[in-house]
Amino acid sequence: MKRYYQSQPPNFKYTLIDYIYVIKAMHNLCNWKKTYDIDYRVEFEKKFSDYIGKEYALSVNGCNSGMDIAIQILNLQPSDEVISSAINFYGTHLSILSTPAKLVLCDVDDKTLNISANSIKKNLTKNTKAVVVTHMNGVSADMNNIINVVKKYDPNIVIIEDVARSCGALYNNKKVGYLGDISVFSFQGKKNMSTLGEGGMILTNNQAYYEKMKKRREFGGRGMDAWGSNYKLSKVQSSVGISQLKKIDKYNKKRRRVAYQRNNMLEKYNKYFSLPVFDKIYYSIYSYYTIILNDMFTRNDRDKIRKILDEKYGIKTTIANEPTFIVHKYINEHVDSKYKNVSCKLGGEIINLPIHFNMSKKDNQYICNSFIKALYEVLGESYEK
Ligand SMILES: Cc1ncc(COP(=O)(O)O)c(C=O)c1O
Repeated sequence: MKRYYQSQPPNFKYTLIDYIYVIKAMHNLCNWKKTYDIDYRVEFEKKFSDYIGKEYALSVNGCNSGMDIAIQILNLQPSDEVISSAINFYGTHLSILSTPAKLVLCDVDDKTLNISANSIKKNLTKNTKAVVVTHMNGVSADMNNIINVVKKYDPNIVIIEDVARSCGALYNNKKVGYLGDISVFSFQGKKNMSTLGEGGMILTNNQAYYEKMKKRREFGGRGMDAWGSNYKLSKVQSSVGISQLKKIDKYNKKRRRVAYQRNNMLEKYNKYFSLPVFDKIYYSIYSYYTIILNDMFTRNDRDKIRKILDEKYGIKTTIANEPTFIVHKYINEHVDSKYKNVSCKLGGEIINLPIHFNMSKKDNQYICNSFIKALYEVLGESYEK
């Protein structure tokens, strides 16, 4: 039986141009006379900041280390609060918990799984120092409303965007990651563009933040006057980042085509679930193809559908994501118990079907048919094509 997984095989993502960039970088870096002259890191940062439209860029060895750096420069105190959505990647919350501040969990929009202006508004207090907006699964959060609500309440609250899953997505024709005070990206292996498995980038327009973050990234900076460690991206990885950046828009477009095709295949069953948005304002890049089952399905039903898909049809699904306090013990132990019911029901309705930009129509149709068959099997109804 052919098996289907969430991420595209690496041999789709890395093509001849990436191999050439690796070999070129290795060749140059092996020449000690050139090692210090050629800075692939700086070139990648410049190209990436131009791509998103931000002034300052810092390449790092992962999105999460970038998020650590971004949140830690805010010098948060135990009485401070950071708002973030409960449905999230747990690493994002671990970054917040690397500071003494309190993690405040809030609800998400039940179609996009993104934090909403309304849910933020309910949780803003005089102690709020930052809001972390994770653009879930390839689609932007409603940034204009979020910025209005937050900055109107207190212009000093810092908005940090987690763009790990949405590199190249658009919001109102602007790249996601353009609007926040600081935005952090991932080039980890499963992402739409990758720097050989690990990597990330931090962007900002704020020079003071940039200087502080740079010191943290690299041993406290050349002035050696602050705490810092080594979170740098390697030069060979940076070189691959430059070649991947040339292709990201093309790959994202192809991925959108597969998602659009799938939406059409599944649309007629929409009394059972909601499908990902396909929109011009929210130009999604479908890092995950997220289906949200309707209320008639329990968490147990969702898990049964996943099991049938895996065992009977060879389709590995994922859940992106359950609330972080459900999946991560440390987070569970470090959030206030009053948040431990946030988004639990919704978390049990999420199911992500495999998608990649090179998926054939035949494979796409097979995944859709299998999903509907599994769903009917759980519902106890007969499958009608
Ligand atoms: C939303 C989100 N944030 C952060 C990360 C962490 O990225 P990295 O693996 O580059 O540290 C991920 C990675 O899976 C993610 O999906």
